[in-house]
Amino acid sequence: MAILAIKTYPEEVLKGKTEPVTTFDNQLHKLIDDMIETMYAAPGVGLAANQVGISKQLIVIDASARDETTSLIVLVNPEIVCAEGSEDSEEGCLSLPEYTTVIKRSKMVKVKGLDREGDPLEIESDGFLAKVLQHELDHLNGMLLIDRIGRIKRQFFNKRFARENALTRK
Ligand code: NI
Repeated sequence: MAILAIKTYPEEVLKGKTEPVTTFDNQLHKLIDDMIETMYAAPGVGLAANQVGISKQLIVIDASARDETTSLIVLVNPEIVCAEGSEDSEEGCLSLPEYTTVIKRSKMVKVKGLDREGDPLEIESDGFLAKVLQHELDHLNGMLLIDRIGRIKRQFFNKRFARENALTRK
């Protein structure tokens, strides 16, 4: 296993739509294991494949620190099949270091996908895991937290990002 480099905004691979996984081979299993190790090392509660530069529909999640009904989840080609309610909560992202913001998302989601062997998997949550699932599925659609905030908050983010970038380039 290996810890992979996490891509951060504004890298292009975070913006594109990802491709479905079609082959469940050793190469995929190695990527999954490396993503799990990378997520725990970060530390984070979820990681999408395009965050490590691979534009595939694959996410790993471990929300057990805040939701003890769940454990490690590997989801391939996931899609939301049902969503209900709405709720605000604070989120951060490994691809937006040191940034957090309040995001409105569905309270409950049901997600269908495949496991690491390609077998069908269905996950339903109305807790913290529901927010993590929606966050990671956003990644697979090329969306970051900053694509879900209002215009004023986005301008604030852009200014802060420009200022920090100017500082680190000196
Ligand atoms: Ni993220």
